Amino acid sequence: MLLLAAAFLVAFVLLLYMVSPLISPKPLKLAGAHVVVTGGSSGIGKCIAIECFKQAAFITLVARDESKLVQAKKEIEKYAINDKQVVLCISVDVSKDYRQVENVIKQAQEKLGPVDMLVNCAGTSIAGNFEEIEIDRFQRLMEVNYLGSVYPSRAVISTMKERRMGRIVFVSSQAGQLGLFGYTAYSPTKFALRGLAEALQMEVKPYNVYVTVAYPPDTDTPGFAEENKSKVRTMYMYPQPV
Ligand SMILES: NC(=O)c1ccc[n+]([C@@H]2O[C@H](COP(=O)([O-])OP(=O)(O)OC[C@H]3O[C@@H](n4cnc5c(N)ncnc54)[C@H](OP(=O)(O)O)[C@@H]3O)[C@@H](O)[C@H]2O)c1
Repeated sequence: MLLLAAAFLVAFVLLLYMVSPLISPKPLKLAGAHVVVTGGSSGIGKCIAIECFKQAAFITLVARDESKLVQAKKEIEKYAINDKQVVLCISVDVSKDYRQVENVIKQAQEKLGPVDMLVNCAGTSIAGNFEEIEIDRFQRLMEVNYLGSVYPSRAVISTMKERRMGRIVFVSSQAGQLGLFGYTAYSPTKFALRGLAEALQMEVKPYNVYVTVAYPPDTDTPGFAEENKSKVRTMYMYPQPV
């Protein structure tokens, strides 16, 4: 009886293994694909752009500071594997005005073709005791980390659905999986991305559009260095007795 149950289990696992390629998406071929990376001028976003560029993708970097964008473009271009590859830079605040974001995505699509993959990486973080964080920082963080991912995604989704292909990545955080000490302003913005991703995936799956959420741990970036200057971040690492 036990043997029969084990055989049944093995057969079931094998069946799942055989069927899974039919139900899971085919990997996106990055060679020649147009990848838009918001927050692509620094840290995690810049590294994602480099990795895609190394696989012959065309890249659009989106961030605010033009000099950082130009610097990142030069750095990324060193990894070119053919002379047709392009890195386009667009300066815009992804969190302020939907129409502006829509326009820059349109410009990028006119130059490099429809967006095959959008990586929403623009974001910022602060740590602090709940009652000490200035009240408008809660709103600002939600604007940048949440709406700053909604706007670019909304701007690419119709074309992706029409073409019946596309990938959207949201860069959340480990603080988007569980609340962390000192992150009352940041964690909720990253939780929100998970809710958005799960709901959106249900809508777009029939169109062969797939949504991914990344939950990075602490990563050595300029943004992380800035956040580390905060007093509460130090307290979080070395909690003080109450
Ligand atoms: N580093 C970590 O330990 C860690 C861990 C988990 C999750 N994350 C997440 O990963 C993402 C990248 O973090 P990072 O550490 O790589 O940060 P980073 O080095 O500070 O880079 C942030 C990028 O986002 C851009 N950006 C920020 N606000 C923007 C806005 N309003 N509009 C357009 N672009 C904007 C920045 O350029 P401009 O300032 O020029 O606009 C920059 O290119 C963030 O979403 C962060 O929350 C980071």
